[in-house]
Amino acid sequence: MKHLLKLLDLSKEEIIGILNLADQLKYELAHGIEHRHLAGKTLGMIFQKASTRTRVSFETGIYQLGGYGLFLSSNDLQIGRGEPVKDTARVLSRYLDGIMIRTFDQLEVETLAQEGSIPVINGLTDFCHPCQVLADLMTVREHKGTLEGLNMCYIGDGNNMANSLIVGCLKVGMNVSIACPPDYRPDLSIIEFAAGYDDKFTLTDSCTEAIKDADVVFTDVWASMGQETEAQKRRILFAGYQVNDKLISLAHPDCMVQHCLPAHRGEEITNEVFEAHANEIFDEAENRLHAQKAVMVELMK
Ligand code: CP
Ligand code: NVA
Repeated sequence: MKHLLKLLDLSKEEIIGILNLADQLKYELAHGIEHRHLAGKTLGMIFQKASTRTRVSFETGIYQLGGYGLFLSSNDLQIGRGEPVKDTARVLSRYLDGIMIRTFDQLEVETLAQEGSIPVINGLTDFCHPCQVLADLMTVREHKGTLEGLNMCYIGDGNNMANSLIVGCLKVGMNVSIACPPDYRPDLSIIEFAAGYDDKFTLTDSCTEAIKDADVVFTDVWASMGQETEAQKRRILFAGYQVNDKLISLAHPDCMVQHCLPAHRGEEITNEVFEAHANEIFDEAENRLHAQKAVMVELMK
């Protein structure tokens, strides 16, 4: 594994390897066992969009591994004034040991990896959010003891989270059911990928159909970063795609709920469901730290 650009690029074994290393690093941190695998290494973190979890977990993570993280806001970089990504890639490769980037266009992340000579980690694009889904899989495995054969359901917008969840969950052997409004389905390339998994993948516009017997239910905001002007229109369009007590009652009685955060209570999830599952949701947020440390060790050691 040279980069983490999207989960489509990873094998099942690579995904499980990251989860196992993440579990080990989490154990070591909890028991005060030093793991300075990246002593003296630097990670540049380019942000073209806002972030709480991604920024803080990467910055803390590289520090705990003995390295140093540089926060690089695109407003302050020449990239924000039109310097080509391929030149930025070649320059940063001369200084750093790795780059994490959060941006809009997936092509920008792929170009950075292609033109530079150091590992690139995708910290979210409009297309996917691989770091989040590695943390999600880690959390589900922690709570359920396994991933293979579990029924996962995603309710809402066919966005970056839906795209990455479909790929990650199918690759590790879960059954995947997605409920989206017809015009807001996951990316076509993802639907084509999932078609290869036959009856392990269901795409429907019916929440009640998708959630039946679910062991874990995921949702995400109706309007992602960059879609702020569509927020009002989406509130109306997605009104039937809310994770609430009535819908959850159709899932497996021990069903987990996951949300990548930030959550909009009263929109994609009710306050009642959120608070009833807050423990699982904040475990998920915490596991960003451990999963990303595993990714950095894997790529930068
Ligand atoms: N879930 C997630 O990526 O959160 P941030 O936008 O706060 O980084
Ligand atoms: N789909 C959301 C995820 C935020 C972590 C967004 O892109 O804004």
